[in-house]
Amino acid sequence: MEIYWDESLSTGVELLDKQHKEIIARINTLLTMTDEEKEQELDKLLRFFGGYVIDHFNAEESYMIKHKYPRYDEHKEEHMKFLKSYSSLKRLFDKEGATELIITATQNQAVDWLVKHIRHTDRDVADFLRERE
Ligand SMILES: [Fe+2]
Repeated sequence: MEIYWDESLSTGVELLDKQHKEIIARINTLLTMTDEEKEQELDKLLRFFGGYVIDHFNAEESYMIKHKYPRYDEHKEEHMKFLKSYSSLKRLFDKEGATELIITATQNQAVDWLVKHIRHTDRDVADFLRERE
């Protein structure tokens, strides 16, 4: 289930769009990898979650605050949930390495959570920003 960035996902904010494109590209790369490649790349992917994705959440949150987005609390809560599952995955990975279980869980986190979030929750921010224009 690959996802493609198109104008319907645009937030109208160049930085956020750029970050969403990068996140989507990473997820698509993951989906096309062999099991062996996933095992080798898991460390990198987790670092991407812990670095780039978190920076992106911060950027998005500042933007929502700046524009007084009314559903900020719910949105922030979703980001926090992601960070929580990311932390457990990371802890497990540090302890056990790239086991099949962690690979599958990380992939589900990337595909189910991030994609759903970008498609729906971030989309709502985009619609809000567009209506204000
Ligand atoms: Fe978001």
